[in-house]
Amino acid sequence: MRVLATRRLPGEAWSELRDVEVGALDRPRGDVEALVVANETVDEAVLDLLPSLRLVANFGVGYDGIDVAACRARDIAVTNTPGVLDAATAELTIALILAARRRLVEGDHLVRAGGWNTPWYEGPFLGREVSGATLGIVGLGRIGSAVARRAYGFDLRVLFHRRTRSDDPGYRGLDDLLRESDIVSLHTPLTAETTGLISRRRLALLRDGATFVNTSRGAVVDEEALVDELVSGRISAGLDVFVHEPAVPEQLAGLPNVVLSPHIASATVETRAAMTRVVVENVLALQRGEPLKTPV
Ligand code: 8YV
Repeated sequence: MRVLATRRLPGEAWSELRDVEVGALDRPRGDVEALVVANETVDEAVLDLLPSLRLVANFGVGYDGIDVAACRARDIAVTNTPGVLDAATAELTIALILAARRRLVEGDHLVRAGGWNTPWYEGPFLGREVSGATLGIVGLGRIGSAVARRAYGFDLRVLFHRRTRSDDPGYRGLDDLLRESDIVSLHTPLTAETTGLISRRRLALLRDGATFVNTSRGAVVDEEALVDELVSGRISAGLDVFVHEPAVPEQLAGLPNVVLSPHIASATVETRAAMTRVVVENVLALQRGEPLKTPV
């Protein structure tokens, strides 16, 4: 069974795949039955090139680049890599919260640039405390819950919003969550429903001095409105994802109140190897005629 992958994936499990070719999706391939992608666009045009395709195995939990309905209509299964990246993503979320609130990157730049020339007690370099602050989690799935568990260890008070209402005392409607939180962190998939969910109007609900963290998908927030809020200096942010990756809005590069990372929430040696294992197990299951491990 011919497997086409847009890239070689990291980790040992990759070597268990047979008949795999690494290449681009740019010409008709009648022989390819399984396609391995890292959330690259898989739309009708790509599917037209692969008439024998039976599986799209995504390296990643988010599969917004894949037209799942078009795949379904053609009897093509889609799999993703849920669960194995929760810890890594939650870790980066906490790192961004701490870095943004405690001005860690700004301080690092100051020291490196030789700008640390006052004794500590004279410096105005004050951050905002994380302990005792209120964290509002938008999307309490596997990753949001992993963030919540870690947040308790930092003495954060945790509120959450999710699609289905809850009787839990921590549940809030989205607008109330934004009004009540000192830190807001996004953990929703990108869907038609969540595109632009954090709109300009909603960003304006954030408290002065609030910290906005995004490790989900850039397009869940109105990026232009977010840049405006950051330029105003009213809020701070920790951002791992952007609308037009790898492009980042130019203005952000000059702002001290935002910590930027290049979409690395799942980027640990351990997690990436585990993600590859899930991809490989799905492809092998298809080859053996067994049920897929993680169909979406
Ligand atoms: C990676 C991710 O960017 O899992 C996701 O949804 O965004 C990240 O893990 C992804 O693996 C690259 O496709």
